[in-house]
Amino acid sequence: MSAFADRLIRWQKQHGRHDLPWQHTRDPYRVWLSEIMLQQTQVATVIPYYARFLQRFPALADLATAPVEDVMALWSGLGYYARARNLHRCAQTVMRDHGGSFPRTPEALAALPGIGRSTANSIATFCFGARSPILDGNVKRVFCRAFGIDGVPGAAVVDKQLWALAEAHMPARDGDIYNQAQMDLGATVCTRSRPRCAACPLSDLCVAYREGRQAELPARKSRRAVPEREVTLLVITDARGRVLLEARPPAGIWGGLQSLPELPSGDLPPQEAAAFWLRERLGVLPATVSPASTFTHTFTHFRLHIAPLRCALGHAAPKATQPLQWLPADRLARAALPAPVRAILTGAGLIPDQRQ
Ligand code: ADE
Repeated sequence: MSAFADRLIRWQKQHGRHDLPWQHTRDPYRVWLSEIMLQQTQVATVIPYYARFLQRFPALADLATAPVEDVMALWSGLGYYARARNLHRCAQTVMRDHGGSFPRTPEALAALPGIGRSTANSIATFCFGARSPILDGNVKRVFCRAFGIDGVPGAAVVDKQLWALAEAHMPARDGDIYNQAQMDLGATVCTRSRPRCAACPLSDLCVAYREGRQAELPARKSRRAVPEREVTLLVITDARGRVLLEARPPAGIWGGLQSLPELPSGDLPPQEAAAFWLRERLGVLPATVSPASTFTHTFTHFRLHIAPLRCALGHAAPKATQPLQWLPADRLARAALPAPVRAILTGAGLIPDQRQ
């Protein structure tokens, strides 16, 4: 075993995390669910979602047979919604093509929707004792620093080098502990900013530590200016307190989620544009229109400045047709809403502040 792997395994046993809700199980359903949720999302955020999912879908078959809307609703707020759609597709694929049991090899796992090489390897080590290394963002940082890799992770040539290192250091035994050690070290010691090198089992092997280059490694992509967009979202309520939602098209941001109707950008002042929109789409005019505070939501590839506009109708809701739908206020809390939309509706007093 390499000194690198040996140190990590010893360190994990003593200082790693041992009480995360998806540890102490080899059930592929539970491990898979956790690994998908943990892609690009922190442990503390995932924990309550993980518990709610398992409560609602105790087994793979429950998830596979649920309507996708229910899955999206439960995922609402966790972000990167393609993960939820793939999760549902993956559950159905395993039921249909694998008799309800996850396949056991990294290759077969990686062929399933939403499961890339690192996630497949992770599931295979945790559930089936495979000898397959992981390489997510945290682990790439550990390798870049420990071995002084200069390029930008994510670039094909750099990732190839990192995978080669990952394969070379993967120990023959205790692969699960080793992979967990990588995750734990990246999350708790070898952090992006202010790494705790004094507590690191690799510091005397670490190129970045020796050369004082922790802040430079891993190299960052040069920051191109992120595009910015502005949107007005309409919070339309009828006299009975129902709210008008608009289902997002399956592709694109918030695909498959319920959002608020969006005002097309144009030359009219938003108040007038809103009245125009209501007349066109619903055949009514609002009794009152009032702007709420604008805020910014950052996506991976752009920033969205969101201006909510409250429109109250003085009467019962006119008929709405797909993708528009009136929802009673008491059903909003459980709807598949993106986090910023949930925040707007909470700010407007339409969703109770506490998630049920
Ligand atoms: N990130 C990805 N997988 C993880 C796991 N199993 N435990 C903690 N963090 C993770």
